[in-house]
Amino acid sequence: MAADDAWTGRAPGRVNLIGEHVDYLGGVVLPAAVDRFTTVTGAPAERWSLVSEVPDGLPYAHAIAEELGAPPQAMQARSDVPPGAGLSSSAALLVAVAAGLRPEMDGAAAALACQRAEQRATGVHVGVMDQFAAALGRRGSALLLDCGTLEHRLVPFPDDLVIAVIDSGVHRSLAETPYNQRRLEAERGMPKRRRHVDSELDRVRAFADALEADERDRLGELLSASHRSLRDDFEVSTPVVDALVERACAVPGCLGARIMGAGFGGSVLALLHAGAEAGFAAGLEGSPVRFCRTADGAYVR
Ligand code: GLA
Repeated sequence: MAADDAWTGRAPGRVNLIGEHVDYLGGVVLPAAVDRFTTVTGAPAERWSLVSEVPDGLPYAHAIAEELGAPPQAMQARSDVPPGAGLSSSAALLVAVAAGLRPEMDGAAAALACQRAEQRATGVHVGVMDQFAAALGRRGSALLLDCGTLEHRLVPFPDDLVIAVIDSGVHRSLAETPYNQRRLEAERGMPKRRRHVDSELDRVRAFADALEADERDRLGELLSASHRSLRDDFEVSTPVVDALVERACAVPGCLGARIMGAGFGGSVLALLHAGAEAGFAAGLEGSPVRFCRTADGAYVR
């Protein structure tokens, strides 16, 4: 095996500030890449393999490598993106493999290839938000992405606004959830689902405006409104997650909180004033809290 066939790729996890369950409808979302990373090394081999502390990654790594036309690869991954906890460990893995195999590729094209690979590997009709954030998110920014046109622009994210992710402890792969069913209901225009989608799209715009104007109380209100809509209209929350959101919002210095990602467990996103971290972690005792900073995506050069 020639050493110059060996490759390494690294990609971050992501948070989604707002815009949940709208990407697959061509809506606008506002994720950010964060400072938790998956690194994959690989080289051509006789058969596909992936050595990793986290099980079940091979179908993803295999699918994206194949999508990019690569021959069988022996791969190794290490990661501090916790699986199943809402930080999109799958997108980090897919984009890391893509960046390793095809570093010269256009970042948006790589994200689309990763989305196709994830759909093929899992049978879940995911949108493109997570892969896009892992590829093209930027340190110091959130990424305002129109999933219909793929137009995107950066919105500055202040250094002294803290991103906290609370792990609900309920970890699931998307294939085990009614994700496809929710997508279908929204596509078919079921009134409650549409009410969530339409109101969430308004909130994404309002949130981006509030971020640009540095109106922090408004950010918190929008997070809380998003949670209520995901809980009552889109019905992707759980009692455990609702309780976490309530506890988070009660901590001094917390601007607002909501269920993040696909839902059905997973994680809660909260935004805090800087300095509130210790009190927040104490207030959420018993549930792991991860404080994240924005980071560069794999295709940011
Ligand atoms: C998962 C999917 C995304 C998106 C979110 C919900 O993270 O991978 O495409 O649909 O759920 O907003």
